[in-house]
Amino acid sequence: MHFASLSVVFASFGALVSSLPTEPASHASKALRDVVVFPNNTWVENIAVRSNGNLLVTLINLPEVWEVEPLSGSAKLVYSFPNANVSLGIAEVGHDVFAVNVGNFSGTGVGVPGSWSIWTLDYNTGNPSSKKPAGKEITAIPPAVFLNGLAALTTKPGVVLTGDSFLGQVFAVDVFSGRYSVAVDVPEFKRNTTAALQLGINGMKIHDGSLYFTNSLQSPLLAKIPLSVNGNAAGPVKTIAKSAQYPIDIGFQADDFALDATAEHAWVATNPSNFIVRITTATGKQQIVAGGKSDQTVAGATSAAFGRNWYDKQILYIVTDGGLADPSSAGVTGGKIIALDTTKV
Ligand SMILES: *[C@@H]1O[C@H](CO)[C@@H](O)[C@H](O)[C@H]1NC(C)=O
Ligand SMILES: *[C@@H]1O[C@H](CO)[C@@H](O)[C@H](O)[C@H]1NC(C)=O
Ligand SMILES: *[C@@H]1O[C@H](CO)[C@@H](O)[C@H](O)[C@H]1NC(C)=O
Ligand SMILES: *[C@@H]1O[C@H](CO)[C@@H](O)[C@H](O)[C@H]1NC(C)=O
Repeated sequence: MHFASLSVVFASFGALVSSLPTEPASHASKALRDVVVFPNNTWVENIAVRSNGNLLVTLINLPEVWEVEPLSGSAKLVYSFPNANVSLGIAEVGHDVFAVNVGNFSGTGVGVPGSWSIWTLDYNTGNPSSKKPAGKEITAIPPAVFLNGLAALTTKPGVVLTGDSFLGQVFAVDVFSGRYSVAVDVPEFKRNTTAALQLGINGMKIHDGSLYFTNSLQSPLLAKIPLSVNGNAAGPVKTIAKSAQYPIDIGFQADDFALDATAEHAWVATNPSNFIVRITTATGKQQIVAGGKSDQTVAGATSAAFGRNWYDKQILYIVTDGGLADPSSAGVTGGKIIALDTTKV
């Protein structure tokens, strides 16, 4: 698929919005703004924010990373990974250097063993005229089956944790040396072997020395585990929310999420269930803050991240697959980036 028609998509978006069926009581609809709508069949999977405020998103329908200006919605392709067909977790590992999980799917959510690697996209050594980052393969991870979430360790420069949703293991990868090893392997990461999709640990975020994670199809839904400086387990898993209290469409409980500045809340994207759910980390309380079962506003929400600048620190940027994971409940649009003003929810 080509994205040459993107500008046309932007131009026609006003018309698209007004042609959508009007549904009552879309949660927080006044607080939501579409930043960009990609063409149909674009599965936007994950998001990281640059220090300059621009959004970097990975795609699953193509092995690509796009950079989007959050105010204008202008979008450009900044990297296309060779010899792969999907890109997933993305996180900043050093100033303006982003680590990305890259590999192959043989079907939706089905990883190809031996196809996975960690790459970095480095804006410091990128092309100054095109303003695109330099891409570098850090290392292949031959034992991996499905590398999904990724988070940078705050205690050790250059080290990222990457989660294998199929194996239910977290690898630590040193982007300077390319060395990797299994860093954390606990029962709470494992997949539900009787579920339709073989998907355990999914979203991963590190805050204050702990790894917060979702498990997509098995309890606990959201939990955290304390880490040593090297990224190994330093204590037992603490469950934050055992299971989903919001309606679930096709058996998928939670995709990726964002933590707010103090980790008071996890803002969870529920993908086929078409919601953003705010979970209070101290109590596990769950509250739907955007979307609806058959509502397109955040249909197919895959992940989210807060802005980093004065004008958008309270804005949650949500990425979606446009409803591709479950077209039956809300229909399909192009994958989106949506801004949610969290001061209004
Ligand atoms: C996107 O897909 C939907 C559902 O199949 C269809 O109604 C719509 O016309 C498509 N939009 C474009 C721009 O092709
Ligand atoms: C991705 O590659 C795998 C083989 O590793 C193949 O089975 C699959 O069809 C490819 N997917 C796409 C969309 O090209
Ligand atoms: C992954 O997919 C790419 C592109 O479709 C293909 O060239 C490559 O051989 C695949 N790798 C594996 C290990 O299947
Ligand atoms: C595993 O998946 C099955 C089938 O969807 C479901 O009934 C069961 O509750 C799940 N187990 C856990 C622990 O979530």
